[in-house]
Amino acid sequence: MTFIHIQEVIARDGFQIEKHFVPTNEKVNLINELSTCGYSKIEVTSFVSPKAVPNLSDAKEVATSIKRQPDVTYVALVPNLRGAQDAIAANIDEINLVMSASETHNTKNVRQTKTESLQQFEQIIHETKGTDMLVNGSIATSFGCPFEGSISENEILSIIDSYVTMGMDSITLADTTGMANPKQVEKLVSKVCKLFVDLPLTLHFHNTRGMGLANVVAAINGGANRFDSSLGGIGGCPFAPGATGNICTEDTVHMLTEMGLQTNIDLDKVIALSKKLPALLQRADIPGQIVKAGKVSDLHQP
Ligand code: COA
Ligand code: ZN
Repeated sequence: MTFIHIQEVIARDGFQIEKHFVPTNEKVNLINELSTCGYSKIEVTSFVSPKAVPNLSDAKEVATSIKRQPDVTYVALVPNLRGAQDAIAANIDEINLVMSASETHNTKNVRQTKTESLQQFEQIIHETKGTDMLVNGSIATSFGCPFEGSISENEILSIIDSYVTMGMDSITLADTTGMANPKQVEKLVSKVCKLFVDLPLTLHFHNTRGMGLANVVAAINGGANRFDSSLGGIGGCPFAPGATGNICTEDTVHMLTEMGLQTNIDLDKVIALSKKLPALLQRADIPGQIVKAGKVSDLHQP
């Protein structure tokens, strides 16, 4: 049976855009619970400016307080050298370096040109030499930018090439504002899989326009087997207009399971955790659908 890796991002992509600051101990408790659900990776926070993303201003406390399980890779997003140094000090397993394919979004998001981002990444990789830290390179707005529109495949392939040449261990193609469509996804993913055969590739989809799960299926058809998702389907980039939630973990796992694919995720436990989100986030409108509808195997009394 084909195995699909599920990587949880609620504690980073999810919490970064919420109105309500999730208290540090609640973040730690949730990550500890998620750690026993079967994820390959959990992105736990971002080492970014607390002025830019106030909700994740407790990055150090979160990263150093969680109870780590040996089979889970704990990840933190990093935009610059300072963030990488803080992540190394917190002994995180993997840093997720982020640059946008779009020059405009990169400037809005991390206040750097793409050239400046790439220069910092070289320095960061140098800084991680001699440590066990893994380095993932994310390309935001890979499938379209809310400021610049479409992004060429050649631009994405050229950024991946720069990342690989620098020595990154893996890459993520992120659809930051849900602009990707399934045809586009399958085409780009198959190209990347053919050109970069042994490079672990993650797809990071947002369901902004309802295409999220269709894009997952398209990416699998193109050869992908790793996906970021967020409990409850919350999330979004605070520096992209109209950004909304990631694909929802429990909806994604439910779909893959129904399709006969293996994920290793304890779906019932994930659903139970998702049901706690309205209280945790102090809002009722959580996007996930399986929590509302139940699994297809949950039958009703006639
Ligand atoms: N962690 C914590 N603080 C940081 C930091 C980091 N990685 N990098 C910079 N800072 C602090 C500086 O110390 C400085 O603090 P001060 O105002 O108290 O002196 C302040 O942030 C500004 O520093 P500067 O180097 O001028 O950064 P900037 O204002 O150009 O912002 C980023 C650059 C990358 C730090 C900022 O844009 C950022 O954190 N963006 C977050 C992006 C993000 O998370 N997007 C969503 C996910 S894709
Ligand atoms: Zn995202």
